[in-house]
Amino acid sequence: MTTPRPEIDPQATATTRARYDRVARIYDRMEGLMEWRSFRKWRSLVWEIVGSEAEKILEVGVGTGKNLPYYPHEVQVTAIDLSGQMLARARQRAAQLDLNIELLHMDAQALAFADESFDVVVSTFVFCSVPNPLLGLLEIKRVLRPDGRAVLLEHMRPRSPWLGKLFDLLNPLTMRLSGANINRRTLENIGKAGLEIESIKDLSLQGIVKLIIVRR
Ligand SMILES: C[S@@+](CC[C@H](N)C(=O)[O-])C[C@H]1O[C@@H](n2cnc3c(N)ncnc32)[C@H](O)[C@@H]1O
Repeated sequence: MTTPRPEIDPQATATTRARYDRVARIYDRMEGLMEWRSFRKWRSLVWEIVGSEAEKILEVGVGTGKNLPYYPHEVQVTAIDLSGQMLARARQRAAQLDLNIELLHMDAQALAFADESFDVVVSTFVFCSVPNPLLGLLEIKRVLRPDGRAVLLEHMRPRSPWLGKLFDLLNPLTMRLSGANINRRTLENIGKAGLEIESIKDLSLQGIVKLIIVRR
């Protein structure tokens, strides 16, 4: 049984949009070291899984478009983001690459796509910031084709209870500074959305960063 569908919180959504609009200008520099040390390696893993067999791919929360260089060239990608400023940077990046891509300003909690529109949905470091992650995951489930899958690279609350509590304490600070929650229970949320977990790979200590493949 899945959890009842929650309502969108307009205020929380506006706050998230404003936070990412604010950090967009410095976002790539802010993440530069982590991108170089780990993220780029993990992005490669995501796009190896996606491969080039899927016909229609949706990237949720494309941000400044850091995944764009990894997109398979032959396939059609639709990418959305809540923040117009983040999306503007993704548009600049896309202009330098020869891609079949459509970039749209849209809320992952209310996707403007028909049911069963995509073969694959990708998100990288997004469900830490979607105001209501359950709504976003329910939307992914709705737009996935029956045999489709979602590939999620996400950071979440650490495994250890005491470290988890520390992350709970620090969370209001990280939210204010970067817009990201560091204590999201993403695996539980995936279960609540009624998505089936096909595989989970721990990529960092304490299971904080995971590569998760889910099916409808
Ligand atoms: C931490 S950034 C990650 C960006 C990108 N995926 C990456 O890997 O660099 C989170 C992104 O999710 C977007 N986001 C947050 N809530 C969203 C929502 N409800 N709908 C669409 N995008 C959202 C933010 O605007 C931001 O661009």
